[in-house]
Amino acid sequence: MRKLKDLEDGMLVLGIETSCDETGIALFDTERGLLADALHSQIDVHEEYGGVVPELASRDHIRKTIPLIDEVLKSAQVDRRQLDAIAYTAGPGLVGALMVGAAIGQSLAYALKIPALGVHHMEGHLLAPMLEESPPNFPFVALLVSGGHTQLVDVLGIGQYQLLGESLDDAAGEAFDKAAKMLGLPYPGGPHIAKLAESGDPQRFDFPRPMVRQGGLNFSFSGLKTAVLNAVNESRDEVGNIAPQDRADIAASFQAAVVETLMLKCRRALKETGRKQLIIAGGVSANKALRMSLDDMMVKLKGELFYARPEFCTDNGAMIAFAGAQRLKAGQKDGLSIMPKARWPMEQLPAIKG
Ligand code: KG4
Ligand code: ZN
Repeated sequence: MRKLKDLEDGMLVLGIETSCDETGIALFDTERGLLADALHSQIDVHEEYGGVVPELASRDHIRKTIPLIDEVLKSAQVDRRQLDAIAYTAGPGLVGALMVGAAIGQSLAYALKIPALGVHHMEGHLLAPMLEESPPNFPFVALLVSGGHTQLVDVLGIGQYQLLGESLDDAAGEAFDKAAKMLGLPYPGGPHIAKLAESGDPQRFDFPRPMVRQGGLNFSFSGLKTAVLNAVNESRDEVGNIAPQDRADIAASFQAAVVETLMLKCRRALKETGRKQLIIAGGVSANKALRMSLDDMMVKLKGELFYARPEFCTDNGAMIAFAGAQRLKAGQKDGLSIMPKARWPMEQLPAIKG
């Protein structure tokens, strides 16, 4: 068992992420850092449907959450009675999937007589780069690019978020997934497009850079989607096949259009806010072409770019344990009622004094 002194030193938080198609569990200690994490991906479950089937996602989370918690505790050699608090994703996400993590997290906390806290999934993504060795310092601009969100946020501290711009239609990750589907690539499409793009010509197709000419910091990816669909249809031969080089060129040109659009908006956001640090987070921030372009841009701007290791860009338990720990440490906790939220504006989160 943990000694009394250890308990006073730091807070040991179990993080549970079940908002979509990944069961992520992690143990974060506010003094010692990340102790263990484990992930179970449901890609195999949903692949044949070309997207996430919510009911199947919930059923799989029920099967995997408790065994993964045991695995993480075992690998960190921690007894569950040593836990100080539990953080679970409370939204935004699929309600049935969120309910699994919320019910398990709350029940475990109730049994152990420790606090539990519902964490905002996008705040988890946003703070994930802080798990890395040289983390950014507040304030900074954050580009959140996931399967469900594309947002530019001015971040002054934890819970001090000012939305600068967001997508008016599809999220960046969603655009990757839809373009992949058009090219006959599996779900989730982002990594497959990125791989195919490596052998393609990014200048072959002149796809639109949506909403870059208008001022402002909002995004729109639906026009780009239509342009990709047209290119795909025009490239088909009589029997409907597309030559491998054409597919690679479409993937590369599409990726270049998304990257350039995101880059231009980030540059504009940095200029408007006067910030010198940019963080990128969410599944699409794992994209190498995006990281390279933004790295170059930040060197030119004499600023700095921050991102998480690839496995902490996509959904994971570590970001929930970390974000939860920051709030739990400040005394925040939930009551016993469980309220998963499908939608939850991040600006509604309370500020935590640093
Ligand atoms: O953050 P995330 O794991 O889940 C959500 O909160 O939505 O993001 C998943 C999204 C998917 O749309 C996936 O295609 C995209 O991130 N993604 C990528 C890459 N890896 C994941 N998009 C582009 N390039 C990648 N390497
Ligand atoms: Zn996510």
